[in-house]
Amino acid sequence: MPSPPAGGGSSPLLGDLLQQQFNRGSSEANNQQLYRLLRDAMLQEQLPPGLRLPSSRQLATELGVARNTVIHVYERLAAEGYVSAGVGQGTFVLDTRPDRLVALEHAQPATPAQAQAAISARGQALVAQAGAAERQWGAFMPGVPEVRTFPARIWMRLQNRQWRKPQPDLLTYAVGPGLPALRQQLADYLRSSRGVRCSPEQIIVTNGTHAAMQLVSLLLADSGDKAWVEDPGYWGVHSVWRSAGLDTIPVAVDEQGLQLDEGMPQGVPRLIYVSPSHQYPLGAVMSLARRRRLLAYARRNNCWIVEDDYDSEFRYGRPPLPSLQGLDAHGRVIYLATFSKVIYPGLRLAYMVVPEALVESFQTGLSELYRGGQYLTQAVLADFIAEGHFVAHIRRMRQLYARRRQALLAAIRQHFGERLPIHDGAAGLHLVLGLPPGSNDLAVCEQAMRAGVLTRPLSQYYRGAAPQPGLLLGYAHVDEADIERHFATLAQVIRSQCRL
Ligand SMILES: Cc1ncc(COP(=O)(O)O)c(C=O)c1O
Repeated sequence: MPSPPAGGGSSPLLGDLLQQQFNRGSSEANNQQLYRLLRDAMLQEQLPPGLRLPSSRQLATELGVARNTVIHVYERLAAEGYVSAGVGQGTFVLDTRPDRLVALEHAQPATPAQAQAAISARGQALVAQAGAAERQWGAFMPGVPEVRTFPARIWMRLQNRQWRKPQPDLLTYAVGPGLPALRQQLADYLRSSRGVRCSPEQIIVTNGTHAAMQLVSLLLADSGDKAWVEDPGYWGVHSVWRSAGLDTIPVAVDEQGLQLDEGMPQGVPRLIYVSPSHQYPLGAVMSLARRRRLLAYARRNNCWIVEDDYDSEFRYGRPPLPSLQGLDAHGRVIYLATFSKVIYPGLRLAYMVVPEALVESFQTGLSELYRGGQYLTQAVLADFIAEGHFVAHIRRMRQLYARRRQALLAAIRQHFGERLPIHDGAAGLHLVLGLPPGSNDLAVCEQAMRAGVLTRPLSQYYRGAAPQPGLLLGYAHVDEADIERHFATLAQVIRSQCRL
């Protein structure tokens, strides 16, 4: 700790300064107020280094506060390095001024423009192309599940059971890629429901899908490597992979999923992102022929396929399609799934299934970069699945969402007949309503938002020029009884903005 300069004197100004500024009637506690005033005065050098502060008794009398208040403030300032204090030696302002060079350099706080320019090129690209919406709840925000029907009582009971006698290893730093009990439950679920071929050891639990995508990019690709992403496609993968330094290349999708023939870009990528069960956002299901071609391409060219299976539990009419991973006989697929749609998004838990050959690297990568966590919540989740609540909840939600989807389809038909195309693949939490060619879907969204309806413009999911305008409409979290009313508002905006 620096020592007080010799020869400092007490300041008659201090009394005046505090008398002017200290307000005993303030809602701020006396000790907090006194601490703040003294600290600010020292930082602004109104109280210069070496100055001796009055004794606690004297200052308490001057301000009309308890002496203990002043003693505590002096102790706090001493603990934080603003003053020196020793019993019977007086309290002195310490010299904590930065050296002159630093002081000059930082004399003026940066303007917002300067601060923006200081952001890295990677950071600027991330901010400029940000995809996440600010508002996440309200008709018809896409991608949002119904959270009000979540079986909270059951969850609370399971959670209480864990907290009644919390195991230390659930609360300390987590070692490993996720709670073994949860990984066991997931392996069973994935085998029976999603046709994924895996052992519990291959499952890595992450804090959301973005962490999984980031881990994939950092462990399997180097800066500058090419990565194919669907176009239109999920903004999240683009943001995460670009910020990891990858050259993300959009590849067109059609009604069979990723185009692997004429549309194929030159050059072999390191990673290929696909959402084959329910292409995001247009809803195509990748055909078996394309799946096999993609797997063969990845095998031949040593690239990795990242399969994002984010919402395939919700398929209306037909049973969900088995995963692409289940067809992969050569360990080229990394399978991603999330609890965001089937439990609730705020949980921030997702998981990945990695080929056996990658298990060890991914386990180490996860703990080095993020450190695993939320093991107690993972234990609750494992019990939730083991006791059958998970599958029952999905089943109930599937029925609920099917009714809401029908209500939205009926509202669309009522207002527009068959004039506007609909893309949804009869699955998921949203559909895409095509707008007439030449429409400005961004302007429609903005006006709809002002009218109280949230949508997202299809054109923003394309990396280049969008071949068609449209709106993503999420229905899963909108009460059936409200769907017609909200759609009527939106229909009015569409009529005012588009040539029908
Ligand atoms: C295509 C796609 N993948 C994955 C996710 C889930 O991401 P997370 O697990 O971070 O909630 C979403 C969420 O909206 C999505 O739209």
